[in-house]
Amino acid sequence: MKCDRQTLPIAAIRAENPSLRTFVLETSLKAHPGQFIMLTIFGQGEKPFSILDVTNSSCSLTIKNIGPFTEALFQLKVGDLLSIRGPYGKPFSTETGRVLMVGGGFATPPLRFQAKALQELGVNYLVNINGARSADDLLYVPDFNDLCHRSLIATDDGSLGHLGTSVAVMETVLSEESFDHVYISGPEKMMQAAAQVARRYEIPFEVNLERYMKCGVGICGSCVMDPHGFILCMEGPVVDHEILEKLSEFGVYHRDKTGRITAL
Ligand SMILES: Cc1cc2nc3c(=O)[nH]c(=O)nc-3n(C[C@H](O)[C@H](O)[C@H](O)COP(=O)(O)OP(=O)(O)OC[C@H]3O[C@@H](n4cnc5c(N)ncnc54)[C@H](O)[C@@H]3O)c2cc1C
Ligand code: FES
Repeated sequence: MKCDRQTLPIAAIRAENPSLRTFVLETSLKAHPGQFIMLTIFGQGEKPFSILDVTNSSCSLTIKNIGPFTEALFQLKVGDLLSIRGPYGKPFSTETGRVLMVGGGFATPPLRFQAKALQELGVNYLVNINGARSADDLLYVPDFNDLCHRSLIATDDGSLGHLGTSVAVMETVLSEESFDHVYISGPEKMMQAAAQVARRYEIPFEVNLERYMKCGVGICGSCVMDPHGFILCMEGPVVDHEILEKLSEFGVYHRDKTGRITAL
């Protein structure tokens, strides 16, 4: 097994909102939207994170402070060392026709990376719907405005953009315009609802899934999905509509770190 581990100083830390920070590492890592890295904090273990962006000299990750590992990360300063291995996983496809992206919450980093990649490839028409609980929780609003032909916002409390979910806005957009492909990244219940809408309009789509990942490279079995043992860290985390249809646990349950089934 190839293991491209790099130990790198934190080059910059950017606060996105009170609970989310973007960590920039100086590296020439080559990666594609939808892929992830395994991040080690010395003495704290290792966890998977989606790649927000790569340039010739940097890799950035947007991370939510949610538990012990991320709390330890938020204590670190510019210049402190982190270790990464990867990139891993199957990225999004590169559709350059009429493309719709639907995002929710803090799962939007891969969509921002995808918007940049599709723009560089000369996408014909790109629309993004950026959903969050409130205006303070929205991520990368100026970036999506710059990268997309049309950029829409949905907030649960109506503090910015449309009042309601990104899936409700998706319904409206699809009733007005036609698309060749949809990319979806968000909380699983939101992705389930968005997938149903895309199916109804008979548009091919991809979702970006998360499961508990310990190794990231297909060895430990912690990320496998029922009923056929789909190995999400290798065969995903981006999953297309045809495969998704066969994953019976999608939108229903996942497994915790012990492998026990937990309802979503
Ligand atoms: C492919 C992938 C991409 C991810 N990308 C991002 C990202 O871009 N930004 C971000 O903030 N988070 C991301 N996560 C989730 C992130 O790995 C966990 O939130 C993080 O590990 C939480 O660790 P903790 O110790 O702080 O919290 P904990 O208290 O340990 O966990 C908080 C939550 O995260 C889940 N979690 C913990 N460890 C893992 C793990 N190893 N694999 C999957 N889920 C875990 C737990 O089940 C729980 O729901 C991603 C997860 C996966 C699988
Ligand atoms: S995380 Fe170990 S097999 Fe996928």
